Amino acid sequence: MSNLEKFINGLPKAELHLHLEGSLEPELMFELAKRNNISIPFDSVEAVRAAYKFSNLQEFLDIYYQGAQVLINEQDFYDLTWAYLTRMKADNCKHVEVFFDPQTHTDRGIDFDIVINGINRALEDGKKELGISSFLIMCFLRHLPEEEAFKTLAMATPHLAKVKGVGLDSSEVGHPPSKFANVFKSARDLGLKIVAHAGEEGPPEYIYEALDILQIDRIDHGNRCLEDEKLVARIIEEGLTLTVCPLSNLSLCVVKDLTQHPLKVMLAKGLKATINSDDPAYFGGYLNKNYIETQKAINLTRDELITLAKNSFKGSFLSQQEIDVHCGDIDVYSLG
Ligand code: ADE
Ligand code: ZN
Repeated sequence: MSNLEKFINGLPKAELHLHLEGSLEPELMFELAKRNNISIPFDSVEAVRAAYKFSNLQEFLDIYYQGAQVLINEQDFYDLTWAYLTRMKADNCKHVEVFFDPQTHTDRGIDFDIVINGINRALEDGKKELGISSFLIMCFLRHLPEEEAFKTLAMATPHLAKVKGVGLDSSEVGHPPSKFANVFKSARDLGLKIVAHAGEEGPPEYIYEALDILQIDRIDHGNRCLEDEKLVARIIEEGLTLTVCPLSNLSLCVVKDLTQHPLKVMLAKGLKATINSDDPAYFGGYLNKNYIETQKAINLTRDELITLAKNSFKGSFLSQQEIDVHCGDIDVYSLG
């Protein structure tokens, strides 16, 4: 193990872009399929992993929504979330802001309450037993109509104490942020934080819409902002964080090779980029593996790794006081 790899493993960090449904490992998928008597179109864990070869976002999404069908009861959502948190403990991750896709479940007849209560109970236990703090972000599926997103927001209203923010995910191209202008306005009026996937596959115009219309507090992915210098300057000026996901970008062919990943360029321009895993069970690696593989591919320096870890806290929805404590811990670690 290289010195920088050891350094990454012990570095305190936060994860800001993680879909809980994307942390469903094939082993747990099989266990839940058996527990819930659901048939899945694979014979073995190896066959599932072999099927995880994608040439774009949509190919992945088709498999990801299929996988989520084994999640039925509150305990299933608890087990999914708990497995992710214990995995994050091993990566020395101190804080997570995780997405879930309620419509993937409510559209199959699963109650919103079952989903959120299972997830929330695991997040509470994660704080108590693992010392990992967390916020939950509810995503609207952008391939569905805005009216459906409104129904989801209504279902969430009795649970607002458990939800920090709303996001926008699923098939990007053809479903611009402007399609969801009204529901995001309602979410803002409820005091929720706003994030959106933008510029993963979609053009810079979608990032402008996310800024101007949705009034986002953070950009998920955002890679394609680099095609527009004015947009880059604006993102820097507004101090917005980008939740970049290198192994996801590689798996979904957003980049041809990790050595071509623009993360170093983003940092050099002054963008507040962070490293995240997106859907680790599907893209071959959790948080530290994303740091380690990217470090190796583009020669991230020790200082860049420190910046990335600090950005993960600075870009979080924690209080300034909590952010300062975590960044102080990074300083102590990197000096020690
Ligand atoms: N849902 C889960 N992962 C996603 C991604 N990378 N982009 C859009 N929607 C998603
Ligand atoms: Zn994502």
